[in-house]
Amino acid sequence: MRDKIAEIVKEIIQEPVKTPEELELFRIKYLGSKNTIKELFSELKNVSNESKKEVGQLLNGLKNQAQERFDVMKIKLENSSSEDLKIDTSRPGDQIENGSRHPLSLVRSEIIGIFDRIGFVVSEGPEIEDDWHNFSALNFPPEHPARDMQDTFFIEKGENEMALRTHTSSVQVRVMESEKPPIRTISPGRVYRNEAISARSHCFFHQIEGLYIDKDVSFADLKQTLLYFAQEMFGEKAQIRLRPSYFPFTEPSAEVDVSCTLCKSKGCNVCKYTGWLEILGCGMVDPNVLELSNIDSKTHSGFAFGMGVERIAQLKYRVNDLRLYSENDIRFLKQFTPGI
Ligand code: DAH
Repeated sequence: MRDKIAEIVKEIIQEPVKTPEELELFRIKYLGSKNTIKELFSELKNVSNESKKEVGQLLNGLKNQAQERFDVMKIKLENSSSEDLKIDTSRPGDQIENGSRHPLSLVRSEIIGIFDRIGFVVSEGPEIEDDWHNFSALNFPPEHPARDMQDTFFIEKGENEMALRTHTSSVQVRVMESEKPPIRTISPGRVYRNEAISARSHCFFHQIEGLYIDKDVSFADLKQTLLYFAQEMFGEKAQIRLRPSYFPFTEPSAEVDVSCTLCKSKGCNVCKYTGWLEILGCGMVDPNVLELSNIDSKTHSGFAFGMGVERIAQLKYRVNDLRLYSENDIRFLKQFTPGI
């Protein structure tokens, strides 16, 4: 018995208790409900009567020693900064992986930068929109077939109709309602349409809307602004052409093509051998739209345009499957790491 006690004394002194985990193991072993010292106490009955007192005292001493070491180490551990204990300076360092910005974020920032240089400020609006801002205030009368141009995800039908915005033109309305001309703004954001997901269409994508309202804003201003944008984005040789089109909120309206920079307008499979790539819709803000937002259409005029960020990214990075942008495939995203 005495030998056993001497052995445990040694153990208690030598037992490593440098971490909270080791301290807990120590506690279980020597102070827990089924600890080693308790076991020795239960053997006390086998000790001869003469020795009982002495062995009992030794056991009590052992118990106190275990408790003392536990208390001391506990305080030490609590006071020492945990960093000291965790850092193993001999370990090789972890490799720090560089993150990358999403290609759509890169393109959005670039577009914002281009328009910032000519005085356009960024404005934003909600993704869940009411009928007024998404449709009615943009000159889409109820039941008008133009509403079918954009398949809508409705959240609530009827009187308090709410839907996921189908375009960022809704932000135009919000800006016109809350600010007085001159207005020069671009509105980047996510938009939603009830469309089957494929390489060429998706149920959500990103647009950037532009709006300029002041006295005497003309179609020539619109054209020059878009030419400036195209040359900043696609290079100084880029050209644009405008084709007549229709949007309920602009009159006249146009679709804009940029000369294909991939084949220098010679014709390739990206531009379908036309030499031109469609990049955005635009037009002069319809006087009705100005009036609906309480802007006097006799004293003021304006232009608006809207472009798809995915479309511009597709032309810039030649990504021709829309699904890639939202699949979070690291092999795709990694390609946009700075420096690669
Ligand atoms: N909102 C249109 C769409 O999503 C794009 C657009 C066209 C915006 C012409 C405009 C514009 O501001 O003038 O298809």
